[in-house]
Amino acid sequence: MNAAPTPRRAVLATAASATAALVAGCGDGGGDAPAATVSPAPTAPGTPPDPTDSASASAPGAGELARTADIPSGGGLILKERKVVVTQPEDGEFKAFSAVCTHQGCIVATVDNGTINCACHGSRFRITDGSVARGPATRPLPGEQITVTGDGIRLA
Ligand code: FES
Repeated sequence: MNAAPTPRRAVLATAASATAALVAGCGDGGGDAPAATVSPAPTAPGTPPDPTDSASASAPGAGELARTADIPSGGGLILKERKVVVTQPEDGEFKAFSAVCTHQGCIVATVDNGTINCACHGSRFRITDGSVARGPATRPLPGEQITVTGDGIRLA
């Protein structure tokens, strides 16, 4: 009996060659393909920021919302991606609220003159407690629990 080469083996060999060619092709850059995906995380996961490292002093560490130095006294910082606004009504006193306007759900736009301001229809909320300073919103911004450890501000 004559044993012919198994077609299955030939198919596997061809598939392996094709896969190798695809992998090699991916490494060639491809001209206008993006070079890399840039992560917004400023530090590697699991690497706590070194408080003595001036390069990382202003960047929030892993899991942090912000650094205390990022929050102006008498003002605040809107973290749109986290949908949180952190305020500092008095020196060293930090508060956080939802950044989602209670009127129709826009993300608040600015913090100035003691209020968190929504650009959609003009509502303003006090940086001290999130209460409504000006409508059309009628409900305060819900508070968010935060902890401040050293220079880092985290959601509790
Ligand atoms: Fe903010 Fe209307 S959604 S004022």
